[in-house]
Amino acid sequence: MMNRSNKSLSLQSLLLLQLSNLCVFIAEEAVPPYIPIENITINCGAFSDSKALDGRLWSGESNSKFPVIHSQNKLSVFLSASTGHVPYITSRHSYSEFTYMVPLTNGQKFIRLHFHLNSYPGFNLSKAFFSVKAGPFTLLRNFSALLHAQGKETLVKEFYVSVKDGQSLNITFTPSSAITDAYAFINGIEIVSMPTNLYYRPANDEGVSFLGQSNLYRFGNDTALEMMHRIRVGGSKIPPAEDTGMYRAWSGDQDYLTVAKPSALPVNSSMNLNFSVVPSFSAPDTIYKTARTMGTNKTMNEHYNLTWQFPVDSDFDYFVRLHFCEFQQEIIKAGDRVFLIVVANLTAETEADVILWSGGNGIPTYKDYAVAIMNGGNRKKQNLSIKLHPAPAWRTLYSDAILNGVEIFKLSKSGDLSGPNPDAIPNLLEPMKPPIEQSGKKRTIIVAVVGLISSFAAISLLFFLILRIRSSKFANNSNRALPSDICRHFSLREIKAATNNFDKNFIIGRGGFGDVYKGFINAGSTPVAIKRLNPGSQQGVLEFRTEIEMLSQLRHQNLVSLMGYCKDNNEMILVYDYMVHGTLRDHLYNTNNPPLQWEKRLKMCIGAAGGLHYLHRGPDHTIIHRDVKTTNILLSEKWVAKVSDFGLSKINELSNTHISTAVKDSFGYLDPEYVRLQQLTEKSDVYSFGVVLCEVLCARAPIDGTVDHLQISLAEWAQHCYNNGTLAQIIDPYLQGKINLPSLLKFGEVAMSCLASEGSKRPAMSEVVCGLELALQLQESGIIGNDENHVNDSTVIDYHVLFTSGSGSLNVGR
Ligand SMILES: *[C@@H]1O[C@H](CO)[C@@H](O)[C@H](O)[C@H]1NC(C)=O
Ligand SMILES: *[C@@H]1O[C@H](CO)[C@@H](O)[C@H](O)[C@H]1NC(C)=O
Ligand SMILES: *[C@@H]1O[C@H](CO)[C@@H](O)[C@H](O)[C@H]1NC(C)=O
Ligand SMILES: *[C@@H]1O[C@H](CO)[C@@H](O)[C@H](O)[C@H]1NC(C)=O
Ligand SMILES: *[C@@H]1O[C@H](CO)[C@@H](O)[C@H](O)[C@H]1NC(C)=O
Ligand SMILES: *[C@@H]1O[C@H](CO)[C@@H](O)[C@H](O)[C@H]1NC(C)=O
Ligand SMILES: *[C@@H]1O[C@H](CO)[C@@H](O)[C@H](O)[C@H]1NC(C)=O
Ligand SMILES: *[C@@H]1O[C@H](CO)[C@@H](O)[C@H](O)[C@H]1NC(C)=O
Ligand SMILES: *[C@@H]1O[C@H](CO)[C@@H](O)[C@H](O)[C@H]1NC(C)=O
Ligand SMILES: *[C@@H]1O[C@H](CO)[C@@H](O)[C@H](O)[C@H]1NC(C)=O
Ligand SMILES: *[C@@H]1O[C@H](CO)[C@@H](O)[C@H](O)[C@H]1NC(C)=O
Repeated sequence: MMNRSNKSLSLQSLLLLQLSNLCVFIAEEAVPPYIPIENITINCGAFSDSKALDGRLWSGESNSKFPVIHSQNKLSVFLSASTGHVPYITSRHSYSEFTYMVPLTNGQKFIRLHFHLNSYPGFNLSKAFFSVKAGPFTLLRNFSALLHAQGKETLVKEFYVSVKDGQSLNITFTPSSAITDAYAFINGIEIVSMPTNLYYRPANDEGVSFLGQSNLYRFGNDTALEMMHRIRVGGSKIPPAEDTGMYRAWSGDQDYLTVAKPSALPVNSSMNLNFSVVPSFSAPDTIYKTARTMGTNKTMNEHYNLTWQFPVDSDFDYFVRLHFCEFQQEIIKAGDRVFLIVVANLTAETEADVILWSGGNGIPTYKDYAVAIMNGGNRKKQNLSIKLHPAPAWRTLYSDAILNGVEIFKLSKSGDLSGPNPDAIPNLLEPMKPPIEQSGKKRTIIVAVVGLISSFAAISLLFFLILRIRSSKFANNSNRALPSDICRHFSLREIKAATNNFDKNFIIGRGGFGDVYKGFINAGSTPVAIKRLNPGSQQGVLEFRTEIEMLSQLRHQNLVSLMGYCKDNNEMILVYDYMVHGTLRDHLYNTNNPPLQWEKRLKMCIGAAGGLHYLHRGPDHTIIHRDVKTTNILLSEKWVAKVSDFGLSKINELSNTHISTAVKDSFGYLDPEYVRLQQLTEKSDVYSFGVVLCEVLCARAPIDGTVDHLQISLAEWAQHCYNNGTLAQIIDPYLQGKINLPSLLKFGEVAMSCLASEGSKRPAMSEVVCGLELALQLQESGIIGNDENHVNDSTVIDYHVLFTSGSGSLNVGR
């Protein structure tokens, strides 16, 4: 315990000697009155240790000091926001139960749970309902951080438990079973040992004054407490780092003060405190050097009660601690300031006299009370009020009252502290904006690279549907000329010159609509891909024009751009950038091309997902591609993935040939929900993209008739393996030992979420982009990318599909 008078000595000398003593002063300040034996901080969801704003170090989870156990072989995910500070940047989220095993010695502990109200794609905050148990104590049940935060960004819940049997404390988070798709999350866990019997009562204690009851109130180590309010009266808040070593946070009293009249705020910061009555760690010095009194107007004071109202849950007993210290120079002896204290409408003291209690001016003390708050007409919350009023004039020299600090704790002898959620504040139920806004993803950079089309090896039907074009302008412009300002018009002569008069040797792809040629324009300098619609196509000129007008406005670095068109005689021809490296499939299997690195594959998937996102959520359109597959993802000279063949569905619907070919080629990609309901949404593209991701990971065709029947459909087989934790065994043999585990987990989770059988459970493409970017980050950062974390075919992953999508910018962990 620190000697307080020394400190003030150095404070005085500081004024004289300035700098030389500053160090002494700081060094002394650095030693808090209490040094906890256990001082545990877990920065949930973070790999490495990091410092909070106050300089306190929070432990990451990679060192396994605090093992996490998952129920039913399920997994929780690490998420990270792009903003905030430790420990609120990262979190652990799970749709099933998980337990932190925290090694601890026996004794009384503070447990603080830190929550940040970030919402993440795939985790709707209004579905976060869960319970938290610490050993035998239920701390929270059906708890909604969103409702409790009442519009604030962060929330800290502080509990006290006494650990008595064992070397560790299990803290278990369980999503509420009564709510479908409920999940649990946590950003930070703090466990700090508490000075024995600072709040608990010693064994030989007779108990605290139980207001309104004849008996005293006793509570021991089998009682759990929750801190409801910790208030500095008449001063500003005190952050945890400035507490006495226990990291308690003290708030100001303004929000609770209801009847104040002109109360006074005395302060004496240069005073010596004499801790001869209560230990010096009871509260920070500043609590005892500031206060609120009623003021000096006797007439006025006799006509009001200085009143605070503190919301608490009904049907619990409360432990109330009031901190006092007389430090004004005129209050020096018993009888100088005597007052009445009323707690929850019950008289706690008729003659409160701080000098009498403490023994003198400058000596801090506190008084404890217990009070039962019963259900007042079914209200969830009630106010526990504290009122001060001067004692009758004959009893006190000054008609005044004083209070320095208040602490209010909920008590539970049954071990269950859980109360109801507060009512929703209207308009606050909607979670805050996701930390990762997608606006940055809607890049519409027009890549001027001469682009590059590909072999279109298996160009099938152009199988895409334009579902909805919000702007109706396309419908009304049939009289306008084709948009040569947006899109170049080629003459048939130019096209013939470019393709050597449609030379069969120039054909690089074939589809239901017609053939695709590689050609050269601009005097042979620029390669292009030329799609020649079947001359017999019934496609009308008007539709053709409308399509071109629309397509030419779709510009995105991850879409193959329409360069121009030709409408001459009966020919309808589209000219595209040429994609040098051909289709994505050409680099995955059945090919002589060298295999692609994992990072490269991830970048291509991110690109393609970005292109689809643009189609789905463009500035003024919603387009469903309807034929997402690895042969429709083309690779530019710089290996940028570009989605092709979007938006030509109408052309194809009219030329109804080769449907069977198309279906055959696209079969493995077909959304089962679409097949069932015949209702097309962009989530069908998401499903197909999930199949693409599996192809990229496993380097095999979506449908393979040569393998065991369980394995024919890649989507089904991959889901089966994922659920059994054997995903690592079916990945492309080339990738064995080259992917690190977190990256694989994230990637697998994204792919599986895309394959969810219900469209509504699948993520939006923006979320897919985020998830894949995270998988790439995890691979590139290789934070835990040492050898043992590289996946090989003996890796068994014991987790299960847990959620529809993840994102943020961190990781899957276990
Ligand atoms: C508690 O632990 C943190 C992080 O390890 C450390 O920064 C801090 O000084 C410790 N506090 C006390 C009072 O021991
Ligand atoms: C979250 O869920 C609530 C209620 O379940 C719903 O009203 C809200 O639209 C959802 N928010 C998002 C972003 O999905
Ligand atoms: C914590 O949970 C684990 C796993 O359920 C169990 O083995 C262990 O005994 C528990 N520890 C305590 C102190 O309850
Ligand atoms: C409660 O536990 C503490 C530390 O384990 C012990 O010192 C204290 O005597 C116990 N109190 C009672 C009332 O049993
Ligand atoms: C503060 O307290 C010190 C001694 O405790 C006293 O000397 C000084 O006058 C006080 N200052 C004020 C402003 O009351
Ligand atoms: C603190 O107060 C006690 C009780 O009044 C007294 O005996 C003691 O001398 C005081 N200590 C200091 C350092 O003033
Ligand atoms: C005290 O308050 C009363 C009632 O508000 C007022 O009438 C009176 O003037 C005040 N006295 C002083 C000294 O301010
Ligand atoms: C102060 O509070 C007490 C107890 O609730 C009450 O009886 C009294 O009427 C109040 N006085 C004033 C002036 O409000
Ligand atoms: C205290 O009295 C007020 C006013 O009479 C009442 O509204 C409130 O519910 C009471 N509080 C408690 C805890 O009984
Ligand atoms: C508690 O007191 C505050 C402040 O006076 C008031 O706004 C609130 O309605 C009260 N709550 C209840 C449940 O009485
Ligand atoms: C859980 O909390 C919500 C919101 O307060 C409430 O509507 C629901 O009834 C609670 N469910 C249970 C099982 O307590």
